[in-house]
Amino acid sequence: MSLVKPFPDDFVWGAATSAFQIEGGADADGRGESIWDRFCATPGRIADGSDARVACDHYHRVDEDVALLRWLGVRSYRFSIAWPRVIPTGRGALNARGLDFYDRLVDKLLAAGIDPFPSLNHWDLPQPLQDAGGWPARDTVHAFVRYAEAVMRRIGDRVKRVSTHNEPWCISTLGYGRGEHAPGEKDWPRALAAAHHLLLSHGLAVRAIREVAPKVEVGIVLNLVPGQPASPSHADRDALRAFDGAFNRWFLDPLYGRGYPQDVIADHRAAGHLIGAELPFVDPIDLAVIATPTDFLGVNYYSRAILRHHAEDEPATVVASDDKTDMGWEVYPDGLHDILTRVHREYGPRALYVTENGAAYATGPDSEGRIRDVERQRYLWTHFEAVQRAIADGVPVGGFYIWSLMDNFEWAEGYAKRFGIVWIDPETRARVPKDSAHMCRRIIRDNRLSVDDIALEVAS
Ligand code: FCB
Repeated sequence: MSLVKPFPDDFVWGAATSAFQIEGGADADGRGESIWDRFCATPGRIADGSDARVACDHYHRVDEDVALLRWLGVRSYRFSIAWPRVIPTGRGALNARGLDFYDRLVDKLLAAGIDPFPSLNHWDLPQPLQDAGGWPARDTVHAFVRYAEAVMRRIGDRVKRVSTHNEPWCISTLGYGRGEHAPGEKDWPRALAAAHHLLLSHGLAVRAIREVAPKVEVGIVLNLVPGQPASPSHADRDALRAFDGAFNRWFLDPLYGRGYPQDVIADHRAAGHLIGAELPFVDPIDLAVIATPTDFLGVNYYSRAILRHHAEDEPATVVASDDKTDMGWEVYPDGLHDILTRVHREYGPRALYVTENGAAYATGPDSEGRIRDVERQRYLWTHFEAVQRAIADGVPVGGFYIWSLMDNFEWAEGYAKRFGIVWIDPETRARVPKDSAHMCRRIIRDNRLSVDDIALEVAS
């Protein structure tokens, strides 16, 4: 007898992608330039020198991709809307053809029995807004709210759930602080202002969306990383405090009404990221807006961090085991259970969704064309199981979105890092479900986990 554990009947199985990573169609139908187009065009920014002008060509293969989702059996699809398609200059005229694409996508998904779950900002800020100051400029907040409202006025009658921003930590810290992501700035005071404006625009957008689309569930998606100290020493425990503060609490605390964590403000001041006693970009009213209640929190989880004290201004991360994905991220399913239970206990969001989880492994077709991505199957299965444990512990986890439906443009890593459960042929862009896609299809169909799922044989 094999071990079989069911998921709740109303558990939402989903797959996730984002516009810039899959769409291509860079110049199609009046699309404007985004900061990621500009970043890709800058030599040395993308590991393999690639760009996303064609990517998976989803823009022209959308019917095939909806059919793929239907085959997989997901109840929901998390995708993002490209702001530069909808408002090419960021704050000017609406581009009807851009909006039409998403309007049609929503209808196609509904016709396939799949709930659309759009993200309004998965990183592709229109370049003209960056030229005017980007996320560190307060005006960008109002441009985003206007864009969010325009999108939801159009599709809000058919959308079940929407998120404002995807991973404000990445946008602010990697984009404006460390310069590893678009727009490639290395300016901490601007990174902190960017983070604040992302949160502020989230709160205002939640309010605006509720006006134009009152039935839609609204939330935000954070990438959260549970941490552990490398040793019980005071220094390592303090490194963990600082990491957790900058990565997790800096976003969770203000979203759940606690304001910015004082210890992290002190860290930023000590590191020279802030001057003076106050956060210069915060108006007194902002914190109440940021804490506007939401319907859910989306959690993107990939790995944990083990912190060892470091003399530099940022704590070092020590990866514990050799079990790593192609990203160099440790495989640590317990961390998903840990972060979900902690967020539930400490912040109590109404509902939680795992909005991204998955793994990069390069495994490609064998001589018969079959893709035996055993590591990815193991990764996903063990993370599904961690979610079951969180649910058993009383955490209201409503669903799980696999990152990603298909191999795609992995930002600064280019195409070398493959997260898909569906293989994309680099020449023809043909879609080929990997063994992990077959496994997920069975788990979704049966809505339960069995140890047989990770058996290497794939049912036809
Ligand atoms: C997350 C992003 C997503 C994808 C995964 C691997 O940070 O939201 O677009 O790149 O990582």
